[in-house]
Amino acid sequence: MRLLLASSEVEPYAKTGGLADMTAALGKYLARAGHQVGVVTPLHRGMPPALVATLEPFDWSLDLPLGGATFHADVKIAQPEPNLTIYFVDAPQFYDRAGLYLDPVSKHDYWDNAERYIFFSKAVVNLARYLPWKPEVMHVHDWHTALVPLFVRHQAWHDGWSDAPKTVLTIHNLAPQGRCHAAKYALTNLPGYYFHADAAEFWGDFNPLKAGLVFADTITTVSPTYAREILTPAYGEGLDGVLRRRQHVLSGILNGVDYEKWRTSGNPHLPAAYTVDDLAGKAANKAALQAEMGLPVRANVPLLGTISRLEPQKGADLILAALEEMLASGLQYVLLGSGRPDFEDGFRSLARRYPAQVAVKIGYDAALAHRIEAACDFYLMPSRFEPCGLNQMYSLRYGAVPVVRATGGLQDSITDIREDPAHADGIKFQAPTAAALAKAIRKGLALWSEPTLLALYRRHGMLKDFSWQRSVTAYEALYGRLLGRGRLSA
Ligand code: ADP
Ligand code: GLC
Repeated sequence: MRLLLASSEVEPYAKTGGLADMTAALGKYLARAGHQVGVVTPLHRGMPPALVATLEPFDWSLDLPLGGATFHADVKIAQPEPNLTIYFVDAPQFYDRAGLYLDPVSKHDYWDNAERYIFFSKAVVNLARYLPWKPEVMHVHDWHTALVPLFVRHQAWHDGWSDAPKTVLTIHNLAPQGRCHAAKYALTNLPGYYFHADAAEFWGDFNPLKAGLVFADTITTVSPTYAREILTPAYGEGLDGVLRRRQHVLSGILNGVDYEKWRTSGNPHLPAAYTVDDLAGKAANKAALQAEMGLPVRANVPLLGTISRLEPQKGADLILAALEEMLASGLQYVLLGSGRPDFEDGFRSLARRYPAQVAVKIGYDAALAHRIEAACDFYLMPSRFEPCGLNQMYSLRYGAVPVVRATGGLQDSITDIREDPAHADGIKFQAPTAAALAKAIRKGLALWSEPTLLALYRRHGMLKDFSWQRSVTAYEALYGRLLGRGRLSA
């Protein structure tokens, strides 16, 4: 199949979270399955120089309208694998910024995010329409590219694009919707008749994600449980009604893990290698991390950790409150993350008050993320909602027992002893409260005191297989159904 993916972040070029891991791996493993794959992404500042050196110019020039003005972009390409081309939309006025979506100093969204991503979506559609290899399916991700299905549909209906591709919209996170003032709708240069309550309008505002949900040929999200949850007001972020109307084209496909990158042996980020049958290296990684983070080096103290955006979604406040209670038990905790200033301050304050037990690094550090996974005995992920979540799957592979709230992809990827004693690999809790998390941590500490059982949990987790092949097979089936090479599922 000929497939064009589009995403505002693609690892290793630009990343704020799992979206980048997912779109990079999906493109790579679809290409390896023999499909012709293009991935379109903005050329963001901050790409490592070694990667910038791999970019080649592409003979393509974009001059696209945003309302009354016209903006220019060039295109560059990289070809990291056979069958895979990354197309970078190079428009410095929009993407040469210190942050991807927000100013890292003020922490405020850029004032022109609507302009930036409407322009990007138009660039994606222009490539899809005129690339000589004629993509058959366009697979777009989250609100940044959610206008693509509407642009494609409009051009197919009114602008002579008779062989327009089918469109798939994947929801990685329903909370950011690109919602903005109604006046910004004019930037789309579309007729006013799409701006109504059953399409792009939302409580008087313009909502790009809603437009995508209405006009995409099919909608997916990144776990079966989240696909069900978002049909309810509690998880629907105001769009559950729209999603219920489109339920017949909505499905959930769990993300995979790129085990070429997330591995415990042959990993350049780790001080010591280890395997499921020889965990000596894991103990060495724990000692190294304790020393690196300024914690007492103690093999017999359980080390808990988290790597996360510090947002309410991730339950950062629940961790802070639960730790206040649980630190009395003597455990150690390591955090790597950044996000809401009050949460950052909360973790800094905890580390100041408990220097022998809590170590915090505020910031973003890909290599340290691997070292933390490899060092930890337990991994805390008390998300209020979690479309898929990748860190719990990385933790399983690295032998850090996940302690998770039973929601979304956490529910689908972790097995609690109450669900299946023969395959238990993590600890789940239900209520989004600090008390419920503290209770789950206590269960972890009980497990810590039973080394044979703990070893069994680790073994189950490390052997669990979330390789991309399974997810790619599910996407291939979905694309095939869209192209009429099979029946569309209910
Ligand atoms: P989300 O995409 O909602 O943030 P995921 O669990 O899907 O959550 O993916 C998060 C990804 O971002 C993981 O690869 C994780 O290691 C990475 N990550 C998050 N915060 C940081 C950080 N501060 N430093 C390094 N990596 C981080
Ligand atoms: C989003 C979600 C996360 C998911 C990731 C990749 O950032 O919050 O749960 O794993 O996208 O799909």
